[in-house]
Amino acid sequence: MKTRNNRLMIGEIEADQLVKKYGSPIYVYDEEIIRNRFRELKESIPYRKLRIYYACKANTNPHIMKIMLEEGAYIDAISPGEIMMALKAGFKPEQLMFTSTSVTDEDMKFAIEKGVLVNCDSLSQLERYGKINPQSSVSIRINPDVGAGHHGHVITGGPDSKFGIYFDKLHDAQAIAKKHNLRIIGVHQHIGSGIIEKEKFIQAMAMLLKTANEIEGLEFIDFGGGLGVPYKPGQERLDIKKLGMEITEKFTAFCSEYGKELHLYIEPGRYPVAEAGTLLCTVNTIKETPKHKFAGVDTGFNHLVRPAMYGSYHEIINASNVEAEKKQKIAIAGNICESGDVFTRDEHGIVNREMPEIKEGDVLAILNAGAYGYSMSSNYNTRPRPAEILVKGKEARVIRKRETFEHLEFGLD
Ligand SMILES: Cc1ncc(COP(=O)(O)O)c(C=O)c1O
Repeated sequence: MKTRNNRLMIGEIEADQLVKKYGSPIYVYDEEIIRNRFRELKESIPYRKLRIYYACKANTNPHIMKIMLEEGAYIDAISPGEIMMALKAGFKPEQLMFTSTSVTDEDMKFAIEKGVLVNCDSLSQLERYGKINPQSSVSIRINPDVGAGHHGHVITGGPDSKFGIYFDKLHDAQAIAKKHNLRIIGVHQHIGSGIIEKEKFIQAMAMLLKTANEIEGLEFIDFGGGLGVPYKPGQERLDIKKLGMEITEKFTAFCSEYGKELHLYIEPGRYPVAEAGTLLCTVNTIKETPKHKFAGVDTGFNHLVRPAMYGSYHEIINASNVEAEKKQKIAIAGNICESGDVFTRDEHGIVNREMPEIKEGDVLAILNAGAYGYSMSSNYNTRPRPAEILVKGKEARVIRKRETFEHLEFGLD
């Protein structure tokens, strides 16, 4: 966190000046952080045939996707909409992979027509894919029986997960592929999101490599995303360098046993963008109950759902008065008509957080909101979504306009 004259800086600009100029609330992204995180990740895996597929569900703003393109990323798309966004951002179809779940034939036809490789999530999907597009290349997503993540909702491996073809069904998948003359050129897994223990990732990697060893003709192995970032002050950072070295060593050893230098794919979504994004909002109300002092702001879980959905912690800073002497215990409440709409909460409920003094009119900064922030936002309570601003040093520009009533779909003719 960078401050100047007791005010929060984003790039080289004071956060409250951004609100003055572009209104409140706004999502602001720092381009330098996105590029640095991406490069750091790339450098952490010194494997020649590495490809980083940005899981754009984390943030589909086309300008952010363009930054990824410039940095040499590929795209993990989970819907026809994401395929479309990626192509619009300038990616070529061969730079994309389509990985989804409960997939319709129409979804697959869309991907096939655009020339995007399909990664099948079930035997049913593989069978239908084979009928639609026989004698082609395909990838399969494996559930390696291992899961991990920051919350039960985002664990995507193991017996409770709806994702992938269970590893013990590989022979069924191979039989389907043979029937339709499909070449299984890739195996994939994604065990969950927000992983900060490297061992989980490595354990799942070993499982997938065992499966991969049984498939001839592979061109790539995709170990998914899930790399976590620290959200709480003092939380330890995932040692990306150590993880990268271990991945490289294990993969290199596997390839020499397999007899071919395969491509190694990973699919981070959160890692390159989470810490680059801040949701700026303005306090309009201070009120008290016998249990809590609340600061009410002009945004809510319609704009950032992670605290309400997962009990996720986001650090909140008084951007107008970062180091105020006076401390208090306070809860930051949104403007959505539901009691759960409180940003300072955990899985059990509201948490009064110790913060510097907050007054009506102050600008608050909800940090680490660049991933699964805007992309999970909604128009709940029929409120428009905020604008998105990209900051590069001293420059700022609008990369998505604030919605107005005209953008809202009222269902009226
Ligand atoms: C298939 C797949 N790959 C990659 C990701 C990215 O995960 P993360 O943002 O935790 O890196 C996800 C997230 O849900 C996913 O479903």
